[in-house]
Amino acid sequence: MSNTMCKAAEIADGIYAVGATDANETRFHGYHVNRGVTYNAYLIKGNNGKFTLVDTVRKEQSEQLVSKIRSVTDPKNIEAVIINHTEPDHSGAFPEIMKLCDPAVYATAAAAKFLKNMFGADASTVKNGDQVSIGGRTYVFAATPMVHWPDNMVTYLPSEKILFSNDAFGQHYASKEVFDTLSDVNVALEEATHYFANIVMPYRAQAAKAVQAVKTLKLDMIAPSHGTIWTEHIPDILKLYDALCSGQGSDATLVYDSMWGGTAQRADEALAELGKRYQSIKSFDLRNAHMSDVMAALSASKHVCIGSPTYNSRPTPRISTLLAEIEALAPPLKEYSIFGTFGWGGGASKKISEKLDALGLEKTFDLTRIS
Ligand SMILES: Cc1cc2nc3c(=O)[nH]c(=O)nc-3n(C[C@H](O)[C@H](O)[C@H](O)COP(=O)(O)O)c2cc1C
Ligand SMILES: [Fe+2]
Ligand SMILES: [Fe+2]
Repeated sequence: MSNTMCKAAEIADGIYAVGATDANETRFHGYHVNRGVTYNAYLIKGNNGKFTLVDTVRKEQSEQLVSKIRSVTDPKNIEAVIINHTEPDHSGAFPEIMKLCDPAVYATAAAAKFLKNMFGADASTVKNGDQVSIGGRTYVFAATPMVHWPDNMVTYLPSEKILFSNDAFGQHYASKEVFDTLSDVNVALEEATHYFANIVMPYRAQAAKAVQAVKTLKLDMIAPSHGTIWTEHIPDILKLYDALCSGQGSDATLVYDSMWGGTAQRADEALAELGKRYQSIKSFDLRNAHMSDVMAALSASKHVCIGSPTYNSRPTPRISTLLAEIEALAPPLKEYSIFGTFGWGGGASKKISEKLDALGLEKTFDLTRIS
């Protein structure tokens, strides 16, 4: 590990980014990520010379966190740890930190319960709107339940106008730079969409409330627990979240699988049909596309067009997984269409229809036919 990787970045006066980066990681709890991962944590110096740590990192990255903290101060000077969310990507290194200092721990009641269960640790519980003074700095906590776990909160530092937003507004983007102004902002926004689609989308109603609350704050920085820190592009990320949380999609996404190529050959026909009604259409061949990228496209889609051969009287396993993900992640779909081929009795089309009808989508066309 190089020295630069282990040095904290000062993002504001006395406030340091001390999180971990893993540019080579391609998976995040089972789904595919395209540009590595980061687990952001922040160290804040109080007027008393002591420090507050906001969030930790994944257990495997503990060393990177500790060495970045050491580049600022001896960890024993940490007097408080704020845990916004106890999912292992943010709490994994918590026990390691607790070995090095004896801090007060702040968390929501739900997070405190999880910390007790996972690590036997005690935390002071904070509620929505609570203000706590630590080391002469005021911290304001806002509960954001189910964005995307029951324990989530965000932490606001009014004096610096910084919101530590944890998973909200995060992205799997292992940029070398910490700020949106230095990273490729279009990539950051694309990865924010990908992140939202795969993690936050089923809870968009709760996320919408959190976004409205965030808009009432004076903000110079939104510092999430994954990816780039938003500064100049705060309006862009808020606009993106407004769109993603709206439950309205305007695009179409075409997704297919194929065993011998027959269904794949018919994709153009389906595309032409879709082209009559949709301007923006993304197409995915599940034989080589990642499901997480499909879900990112679906997060802005009104229509899904699914192509499947019949495989033992049903859609192929990859298409079955797609249907399960549509049910689990609930993209804002209103309509669907189908294409594909079968050798004798068929069955894929019927099973796809049953599933999507049950989810309240309307069928617009079915181009399935015998091979
Ligand atoms: C493993 C396997 C299982 C199949 N099961 C069925 C089936 O249950 N019912 C049916 O009508 N056709 C079945 N077929 C035939 C395919 O659906 C048909 O060949 C179709 O055209 C293949 O489309 P593709 O070229 O996109 O893979 C099966 C084919 C394979 C290879
Ligand atoms: Fe999370
Ligand atoms: Fe996370």
